[in-house]
Amino acid sequence: MKQDGPTLESADSTRSMTRKPPYRTPSIDSEASLPDIGDTRFSGDRFHSDEFMQQEWTHLWRRTWNMGPRLEEFSGPGDYVIHELGRESFIFVLEKEGSIRAFYNVCQHRGKRIICDQRAGTARFFRCAFHGWSWNIDGSIKGIPDRETFPQFSEGLPCEELDLSEIRVDTWGGWAWFNIDGKAEPLLEYLDVLPEHIAPYRMEDMRTFVNATFLWNCNWKVAVDAFNESYHFRGIHPEMMMWSNAEAKLELLGKHSRMINEYGAPSKPYRETKEISERMQAYMRYFGLDPKDYSGPAREVRIEKQKINRRQAAEGTAPHLPYEVMTDEQLSDVYHYFYFPGAAQNIFPEGVNTFRYRPHETDPNKCYYDLIMMGHFPQGEEPPKAEHVYFDKKVQYVELLDPSLEVASFILQQDADNVPEVQQGVQSEGYKGMTLGEQEIRVRHFHNLVDHYLKSGEP
Ligand SMILES: [Fe+2]
Repeated sequence: MKQDGPTLESADSTRSMTRKPPYRTPSIDSEASLPDIGDTRFSGDRFHSDEFMQQEWTHLWRRTWNMGPRLEEFSGPGDYVIHELGRESFIFVLEKEGSIRAFYNVCQHRGKRIICDQRAGTARFFRCAFHGWSWNIDGSIKGIPDRETFPQFSEGLPCEELDLSEIRVDTWGGWAWFNIDGKAEPLLEYLDVLPEHIAPYRMEDMRTFVNATFLWNCNWKVAVDAFNESYHFRGIHPEMMMWSNAEAKLELLGKHSRMINEYGAPSKPYRETKEISERMQAYMRYFGLDPKDYSGPAREVRIEKQKINRRQAAEGTAPHLPYEVMTDEQLSDVYHYFYFPGAAQNIFPEGVNTFRYRPHETDPNKCYYDLIMMGHFPQGEEPPKAEHVYFDKKVQYVELLDPSLEVASFILQQDADNVPEVQQGVQSEGYKGMTLGEQEIRVRHFHNLVDHYLKSGEP
């Protein structure tokens, strides 16, 4: 479903992409050799030291483009969403002209957060509850109670001093993105080839049906790393070995990276099995195949999904899904993209699961894990606006998410249970540091780039 209003997505998504549409998502050449990006160990303190966390704030998070709220959360002027990153809180607001701006959520009087107890809403203006100072939705100062008691303003309000501080915002893919120091290259340049790769999925037309944040007891990079390789399938997700292929195709894309894993096909050493496991059956039901109707080998289940989706495309029975522009591999397999530094997506023709990793405001041993699940819906069947939910305690994802999402929630539970145990270990003085193999090249690439930002030393 398109956004209301004339701007938001439409103006930005096609602007300045280097090639012209139609875009096609390339596969990864599994024969291509991976680049040599080193083999050093990374010491554990990067995951728990206050000093490292401070360096990251100064030299990394302020300089990169970061994924903010979904554009579908803004439908009319004055609609706002609070988005927090580390120690900062930002007000994203839709202005009358239809463009999104973002301001530090900070009163210029005594420094109180202006919007404290509400994540989203609609405002005619913003008002600080402390002394009633107010701002227009374009961030300009609106009013100061008992203004005559401020002799320094007797000549008029010094707007440059009193307006809300603004940060740089751009949009792509149905998301607002922000760059705090304002000096990064343009967003589409920063995102490299990802917008072209992802364009066929029409992410900007998807609708969110899960928007949740979980407080996790691990550093944000432990969370990033836990999802950027499939080497951990056999240890953390043994059931996945029976229905998805841990042997991924990997590719580094500028600052970012991706991997492709076959779904509907087991991993070694089960490649030739005839057994259709319980989880494989759940996956089959997800794409509309009754397990009772299938008698082939497990590794060809993915071919069945490709056939079903091709038929749907030919018969026009799923016009809301972009099957006609997908390769066979895209129809069945998961394309996992990582956006440096703090977001990743599992991308399917039917929808996208976004994982956003945000540093905690003060504690390097904690982070916020955002789970945003979106899909394409037939016209007239769009889900109601997904209310954001926050959990600061350990949860059972299987109970939390809809039963139709059991495949995803089961896997997420295993990852969520794993990361605090990693966090405990990396703080041990007996830990000699993180060493990484070829299957973990995306993890190494990520940490190399974190170090590069920190070493370059610019504020
Ligand atoms: Fe995992």
